Amino acid sequence: MKYDFDSVINRRDTDSMKWDVEVNELPMWVADMDYITAPEILDALKERLDHGILGYPVIPGRWYDAYINWWKDRHDLAMKRESLVFCSGVIPAVSAMIRAFSLPGSNVLIEPPVYNCFFNIIKGNGRKVQESPLIYKNGAYERDFEELEKQMSDPETELMILCNPQNPTGNIWKKEELAKIGELAEKHGVKIISDEIHCDLTEPGMGYVPFAAASPVCADIGISFIAPTKAFNLAGLKTAAVYVCNEETREKVKKALDTDELSEPNAFASTAAIAAFEKGGPWLDGLREYISENRKTVYDFLHDELPQIHAVKGFATYLMWLDISGLKKDTDKFAAFLRKQTGLFLSPGVIFGQQGMDFLRMNIACPKSVLMDGLSRLKAGADEWMKKGEK
Ligand SMILES: Cc1ncc(COP(=O)(O)O)c(C=O)c1O
Repeated sequence: MKYDFDSVINRRDTDSMKWDVEVNELPMWVADMDYITAPEILDALKERLDHGILGYPVIPGRWYDAYINWWKDRHDLAMKRESLVFCSGVIPAVSAMIRAFSLPGSNVLIEPPVYNCFFNIIKGNGRKVQESPLIYKNGAYERDFEELEKQMSDPETELMILCNPQNPTGNIWKKEELAKIGELAEKHGVKIISDEIHCDLTEPGMGYVPFAAASPVCADIGISFIAPTKAFNLAGLKTAAVYVCNEETREKVKKALDTDELSEPNAFASTAAIAAFEKGGPWLDGLREYISENRKTVYDFLHDELPQIHAVKGFATYLMWLDISGLKKDTDKFAAFLRKQTGLFLSPGVIFGQQGMDFLRMNIACPKSVLMDGLSRLKAGADEWMKKGEK
C-alpha cells in the first residue's frame, strides 16, 4: 500500500504546540511531524474510543509482545519481558531517573550539542550539567573518548545521558563506540541512560544499535528508553518504555516511576503502541523513504542555492543540523531575523548547548511542498541578511 505523505494537513487551531504561531509563520522547529499517523494505528484507537468506557487501564500482555517482537525483528535485540517497563513519556521518566540515580548537586554528563530538554531536567532537579562535547570535524561529529573519560572520572559524576541516535546531529553510534562508552562507564561507576526515542527513524537500509546490545557490560549498566512516539507521530499520547536488564537497577527504576506516577498508562497508550509495533512497519518504511528524499532535497537546495549554509550529514531523525557559520555566528539573532522577515521558525542551535552557536535545527518531517516553502524562506532570509551586511 502506498501511504500519503504529500497532503498538506491544516494544523492551525488544533491546539498544536508546533503550529501555535502567527498566520504567516511556518514552524519547522519542535520534533513533531506534519503527517497523519499510520491508518492502522488510527483504526485501533477508533475502536478503543468506540467502546466508550475510558477508565483506568492496565498494561496487557500484548504490549510486551509488541515491543519484544519489534526489537527482535528490527533491531536484533532479544528483550526479556521482565526487563521492560511502561512509562508515560521519555523525558518525565528520565527526569525521575536523575533523582533516583544521582545525588542533589552531583554531575549529570551529556554530550552537547544535544536535545535541549536534557539541560532543563538536569538543572531543574538541582544537578550540575557536565559536558563532554562532541567534536565537529570536517563537517561531521565524533566523540572525544579521552575527554569523555576525563569527565566520567570526576568522583561527582554518577550518571550520563546518551542520545542514541543523536538529536540534533543525526549521528548513529556504532557498536564499538557504545561498547567503549559502557567500558569507561563501568570503570568509573557511571550509569548510562540511553535515550533511543529516534531509533526507528534511520535512513532506509540503516539500523541502530541498542545500547543494551553493544556488550554485556552495556546491558548491565544501561537504562534504555524506547517508544513509538517519534517514529509514528504519537507524542501527544504519552506512551513509552524503559528497558533495564539489571534486576537491582530495575527495581529502583520501577520505584522511581511509581513514586512519580509515571507507570500509569492513559486509555490509549498501550493501544497505540501495540498497533504501531504490530502493524505500523510498512507505513514507517514509507515514511523513512519520504524523509530520506526530503533530506536529499535539503542537501541539493543548499548546495545549489545557498552554499553559505551547510547541512551536516545525518543518518537518523527527521531533524537537520544546519551550519550557518558562513553567514554569521549568532544563531539566536539569525533565527529571530529569519522568523521576523520570512515567518520561518527554526530552532536556534544554541538551545542545544553553546556548541550550537553556529547552527540552526530544521524539522523536515513535512510534505515536500511545505519543505520547499521552508527552503525558499530560508534563502530569502539569508539573502536579506547578507544584503544588509548583518553581523
Ligand atoms: C532525544 C529526545 N528524547 C525525548 C524526547 C521527548 O520524549 P517524550 O515526549 O516521550 O517525553 C524528544 C523529543 O523531541 C527527543 O528528541
